[in-house]
Amino acid sequence: MYSKLVEKCRAEIVYANDIDSLEKIRIRYFGKKGELNLLFKSLVKCANEDRIVNGDLINQAKNIILKYLEIKKENIKYQAVESKLLNERIDVSLPGIRSQKNIGNLHPLTQTLQNIENIFVNIGYNVVHGPEIEDEYHNFEALNMPVSHPARAMHDTFYFSDCQYLLRTHTSPVQIRTMEKNVLPIRIICPGRVYRCDYDTTHSPMFHQIEGLYIDKEVTFADLKGTIEEFIKIFFECDEIDIRFRSSYFPFTEPSVEVDIRRECFSNWIEVIGCGMVSHNVLNVVGIPDIYSGFAFGIGVERLTMLRYGISDLRILFENDLRFLRQF
Ligand code: DAH
Repeated sequence: MYSKLVEKCRAEIVYANDIDSLEKIRIRYFGKKGELNLLFKSLVKCANEDRIVNGDLINQAKNIILKYLEIKKENIKYQAVESKLLNERIDVSLPGIRSQKNIGNLHPLTQTLQNIENIFVNIGYNVVHGPEIEDEYHNFEALNMPVSHPARAMHDTFYFSDCQYLLRTHTSPVQIRTMEKNVLPIRIICPGRVYRCDYDTTHSPMFHQIEGLYIDKEVTFADLKGTIEEFIKIFFECDEIDIRFRSSYFPFTEPSVEVDIRRECFSNWIEVIGCGMVSHNVLNVVGIPDIYSGFAFGIGVERLTMLRYGISDLRILFENDLRFLRQF
């Protein structure tokens, strides 16, 4: 008897596509003046027996409609979640969106440092750091630089008042600190800041060096040459570069050389790296047995940066002028 009513309501429910329209349907049927309520009220007029039968039928219709409403409500909620998931799906394989903001870039010196570190890490070197406040022993004595050595003069080096400690003048003391641990073989590079009383177009009181050290059995000068040549070619991204090993002197290497490069024939040779075979005096000081040998090198990070980018005054690297820094 009430199947028409149920059918009518079902059709409305089917077409409802959000919670609001479903609520409106509920009110239309179950509200104070809703169709089902009116039906219940009309029962008063029925005779007793009819009232029970009719009441039952209306109740059945009511339960069926409530069930429809409930199912549809769940359905709408489910669809909402589904479409949200669909719309908000992120395809992680798509390229990222470049930030429109000016996020800056790495300082050219940091870029050079990272570049050099990567080259050596790729051929098996570890990166080791040492203290910037150093004692005289590690900065000078252990590196075969006696008290009379000119680099130890007050006007070259920043000493602390007790004269035992100083701002390291080079990264070479990290060699000593690593060799003292006596874990062999050693293949390290040591980047960091160093300090000297200097200030002109090619010198600054604070600058950066990268020290390199390779100690093992049967390490020869040929290994040193091969390593340095390969490094220079990779760093300058150029195979056509002339490289010259010019004999020199450092107290902690024997023999010692300076490495010069030139990009084109007839242009000037430019000195880029100091290096040599680690002196046996130094190996003895740290207790490394004679069957071991090795080479060391010192790279000036500012100098390589200036050569790579054609910078003529080193001081501009430390002035924080954005017009300069934005070019890198
Ligand atoms: N420590 C030297 C300096 O500051 C650079 C250097 C030269 C480091 C030769 C080395 C080396 O390891 O073998 O001038």
